[in-house]
Amino acid sequence: MTYRLFLTRFAALGLAALIVTGCGNGPTLPDWAPFSGAADSPKVDGPQMVSSANPLASQAGLDVLKKGGSAVDAAIAVQAVLTLVEPQSSGIGGGAFLMHWSPKTQKVIAYDGREKAPAAATPELFLDDTGKPFDFLTAVRSGRSVGVPGAIAMLAEAHEEHGRLPWAELFEPAITLSEQGFEVSPRLNRMMTLVPGFGETPAGKALFFDADGTPFPPGHLLKNPDLADSLRTIAAEGPEGFYTGAIAEKIVAAVQNAPANPGAMTLEDLASYEPKKREAICKPYRTWTVCGMPPPSSGGATVMQILSLIEGFDMAALAPSSVEAVHLITEASRLAYADRALYLADSDFVEIPLDALLDKGYLAERATTIRTDRSLGIAKAGTPTKKDSRLSPHTTREAPSTSHFSIVDGDGNAVSMTTTVEFVFGSNLIAGGFILNNQLTDFSLAPVVNGRQVANAPDGGKRPRSSMSPTLIFDEQGNLYALVGSPGGSRIIAYVAKTLVGLMDWGLDMQTAVALPHHVNRNGLLELEEGTAIVDLAPELERLGHEIKIRPLNSGLHGIRVLPDGTLEGGADPRREGVALSDRNAAP
Ligand code: DON
Repeated sequence: MTYRLFLTRFAALGLAALIVTGCGNGPTLPDWAPFSGAADSPKVDGPQMVSSANPLASQAGLDVLKKGGSAVDAAIAVQAVLTLVEPQSSGIGGGAFLMHWSPKTQKVIAYDGREKAPAAATPELFLDDTGKPFDFLTAVRSGRSVGVPGAIAMLAEAHEEHGRLPWAELFEPAITLSEQGFEVSPRLNRMMTLVPGFGETPAGKALFFDADGTPFPPGHLLKNPDLADSLRTIAAEGPEGFYTGAIAEKIVAAVQNAPANPGAMTLEDLASYEPKKREAICKPYRTWTVCGMPPPSSGGATVMQILSLIEGFDMAALAPSSVEAVHLITEASRLAYADRALYLADSDFVEIPLDALLDKGYLAERATTIRTDRSLGIAKAGTPTKKDSRLSPHTTREAPSTSHFSIVDGDGNAVSMTTTVEFVFGSNLIAGGFILNNQLTDFSLAPVVNGRQVANAPDGGKRPRSSMSPTLIFDEQGNLYALVGSPGGSRIIAYVAKTLVGLMDWGLDMQTAVALPHHVNRNGLLELEEGTAIVDLAPELERLGHEIKIRPLNSGLHGIRVLPDGTLEGGADPRREGVALSDRNAAP
């Protein structure tokens, strides 16, 4: 199959998802041009755009922009709607990272709304009575996995600095949809049955299954009056309405009374939560500048390492998804993921040699181990400070949750935000109509491995390491060129890094870049995306020494590219249900 043909296959998938999502009895959706999932996406003329994982969320964001709202205003509306319509992925009960660009101030700000462990948490948070770590699902479905949610506090801080419309107004679309209902999408329906026993959990019972224990089918009109109440309170009272008062009490009650392994979160933990503004990691890649999220996310640093490690190779001369390109990105990923596993965690708790890890000389030396004719195999972490680390590495898993959206407003302000409740429907606990995250399972469940501390071990007040990689790219003149990010657990880094190569080295349009077939190597197996032509490369990649696994790879890349004439070009991952909307193709 040719490259063009398999992209067309993606296009068909994306279009089918779009059509299914748009039919039924729910609120009427705009009759948009079908460029979500289309490899030959038309350029979208329009000064403002939202690309998100759900059409109702994109529409809510665009409506805010059309009322004169800023990119941050739209982000708040999008997040509120996603809480309702994509509850398996993100919501106000979770955390997020937001990268903001203002052309007026010429500043990038990295907002950190990552969940925090309750003050009473200890490194033994996920150890059983015998000192053994819980198995993953036991840890997830517990009160102990719930971190103090950060999304609302972070959005409120960003709104104070960049908001134009009143805070309360931004919740209106989500309140209306919660009351009137929305149609369960095929993906939401699939997620209800993905994890065995979800119907028996507090969240499953409360919202997603009927009295007979049957999950609501696609097209079912799902209402969430409890969420409408919570959103009304947050709209009226601001973040205080979430972190104190009745909503906070409901969160603490759900965590402390969890059916298994209750958590220690208190009202004080909620009242004292603070988002952080961090210095973005902004580094050159060829003629571009790439900005990503610093710790506690490992995303920005690891994506940047991958790019630096391939910078010495003429990637532009290689075809996208060619054996040579896949091999080089794979080798760089092995090296970068090895460093990530050992060094990256919450920099407020652990000393991270970030400058040394991103040092050009260090990475140039690491890159000398990359050969074009043979894989380097499993990579060891480097010694950026020339000292042997006394830490033990930590690797993570992924689930089909989390969401990324990208927004550009009429003044060119941009928001690239990745948001998550971590696992599918988070901890499976619910409070006030929204899902409570299980973000604390992003810590290493075992605080000590082989007698050595893990940097990403749990601790009171600590933020678990993330892989979320909301990214901004700037051109040689310092103008915003593109913004993108993805869900996918620790695979996020690989999805985003490859998309960035597509945008910068191969000059792909945003839709083609997000639809590129995936290949992921987290310093182990080389995973190739099932159902795409990239699997045809397996024999040659095996000959280079890679151990191959063919499997579905579930990203959710949503991005926007700014063309030289100011035109915005959207991309929505055909593997999800999302859409990029701008003035031109949205309902009047
Ligand atoms: O913060 C993180 O990196 C993870 N909690 C994100 C989880 C995720 O992307 C789930 N997978 N699609």
